[in-house]
Amino acid sequence: MSTESTMRAVTTYRLLEMKNKGEKISMLTAYDYSMGRILDEAGIDVILVGDSAANVMAGHETTVPMTLDHMIYHGRSVTRAVTRALVVVDLPFGTYQGNSIEALASAIRIMKETEADAIKLEGGVEVIESVDRILSAGIPVMGHLGLTPQSIHKFGTYNVRAKQEEEAAKLISDAHLLQEAGCFAIVLEKIPASLGTRVASELSIPTIGIGAGGGVDGQVLVIHDMLGINNEFSPRFLRRYADLCGTMKGAFENYIADVKSGDFPNEKEQY
Ligand code: KIV
Repeated sequence: MSTESTMRAVTTYRLLEMKNKGEKISMLTAYDYSMGRILDEAGIDVILVGDSAANVMAGHETTVPMTLDHMIYHGRSVTRAVTRALVVVDLPFGTYQGNSIEALASAIRIMKETEADAIKLEGGVEVIESVDRILSAGIPVMGHLGLTPQSIHKFGTYNVRAKQEEEAAKLISDAHLLQEAGCFAIVLEKIPASLGTRVASELSIPTIGIGAGGGVDGQVLVIHDMLGINNEFSPRFLRRYADLCGTMKGAFENYIADVKSGDFPNEKEQY
């Protein structure tokens, strides 16, 4: 009897191999089936179902309002489409910081209800008990240090983090702590490039940067930003690969004009 494999082709082990070979890791966010399918077909290594869905899908100013049910909905929509890329789902604010038992319950819901491959959470020493407990249940954990948007009300700004020596030292120490706990990778967000390079060279697990320079092991961007769907956001680290806002607006304007003029539908477009 043969059983069909439900494992995706890119595994956490494969990411480690990529780091060891010096092969850069590509990661982008997705929140729905269609985008997940296109990304997977394009050959992306990792798809992050990020809680940035709060901003780009729901129009919230911060990621704080995201709930576990929201993340499960987005996670499940993406995993239905993906056969190759590793799929990571964010644990949203308030579902893992309070206590590690709640953190494990949140991670188990994500894994069971979305069929993702791993979860991501923000923070270092403050959340290490939750990281330990989730890992002890066999759930792969990706860390996230530097600018951690779930703590925006503590930071007060989205400025570059860890420019001062004290904050940089804490970030390095947190990165080692997450690695020793057993995290398979760490996202480094909006930190000086020299710090990103240092963390990447000190750690044996992959580091994936967003605004952390080119010395890290991979890069991640929010898909709406890199596609130019959201064209109000233009930090220095963002490279736009398309102007979908312009393309989509043009298509919508053409459609509206065709409907108004009676040009659509024409004879071939009806039964
Ligand atoms: O939620 C998200 O999209 C993220 C990325 C910015 C890394 O965490």
